[in-house]
Amino acid sequence: MSNKSYAQVNAIKRTLGALNALAFCAAAFIGVISVDAIAQPAERSGKEVVEATCAGCHAKGEKGAPKIGDKAAWSKRAEQSLSSLTDTALKGIRQMPPHGANMKLTDTEIKRAVTYMVNQSGGNWVEPSSKTAAPVERTGEQVVKLRCGECHEKGLHGAPKVGDADAWIPRVKNGLDAVVRSAINGHGGMPARGGIASLTDAEIRNAVVYMMNKGRVPEKAAK
Ligand code: HEC
Ligand code: HEC
Repeated sequence: MSNKSYAQVNAIKRTLGALNALAFCAAAFIGVISVDAIAQPAERSGKEVVEATCAGCHAKGEKGAPKIGDKAAWSKRAEQSLSSLTDTALKGIRQMPPHGANMKLTDTEIKRAVTYMVNQSGGNWVEPSSKTAAPVERTGEQVVKLRCGECHEKGLHGAPKVGDADAWIPRVKNGLDAVVRSAINGHGGMPARGGIASLTDAEIRNAVVYMMNKGRVPEKAAK
């Protein structure tokens, strides 16, 4: 390495040192962000976001905020989808400030926080996985166990039963895509996405394929 570039590296090191010190002061001042969070912005869990930001109002029901654990207050709101509740939390509503007044939170973090509060209040939502980490797609069997089976195992409310080819064949006459879309949108006794807003289109598809094939063709062998 030449002397010149060595000097440059040293200069950069000094600048970085100063920046680090600044970041440290800022973090100490704000008292919420750790130095690690600055160096490596990993998305936080719903619990972490709620404890750091949302609990300020939602723990005690400050200013009319729906209180964490108050089933009545949340079940009404949880009838909206996760994306619509998240939208409200991002934009703010009446006494609820946009982003819970923390603009550093990503959309996913807000989603997770909403999910966490709903679940602490009698809900059963799945916390969305990070957009930055590769999401793990659930298999058809996992999704059916998680939710769809509740109605589709026994044919509740007229739901086509798992593995019942006679019930499924007429429904797929317009193709798999059409029936998957129908499950995504919901209709009649079939709630949109089976009632779990965070299930991806691919996961819904996996579940439909699994329900149509189970008991006849093993899922893996279905081509
Ligand atoms: C400064 C107080 C305050 C903070 C901080 C706060 N909220 Fe709220 N929040 C409210 C109030 C007040 C309401 C009730 C608004 C209304 O319906 O009039 C509310 C309502 C909500 C709702 C229901 C919206 C609806 O459509 O009914 C969601 C979801 C929500 N907050 C999410 C969050 C999340 C997530 C955070 C943290 C990132 C957060 N809030 C932080 C005060 C707060
Ligand atoms: C609360 C009960 C319930 C849950 C939970 C549920 N379903 Fe259904 N599902 C139904 C009922 C009832 C029907 C029949 C609706 C009709 O045709 O009137 C149905 C129909 C369907 C159909 C056929 C749609 C069509 O156009 O014919 C698909 C596909 C489907 N469900 C997929 C799913 C998947 C995937 C899940 C899980 C993610 C799921 N369902 C969870 C009750 C449920």
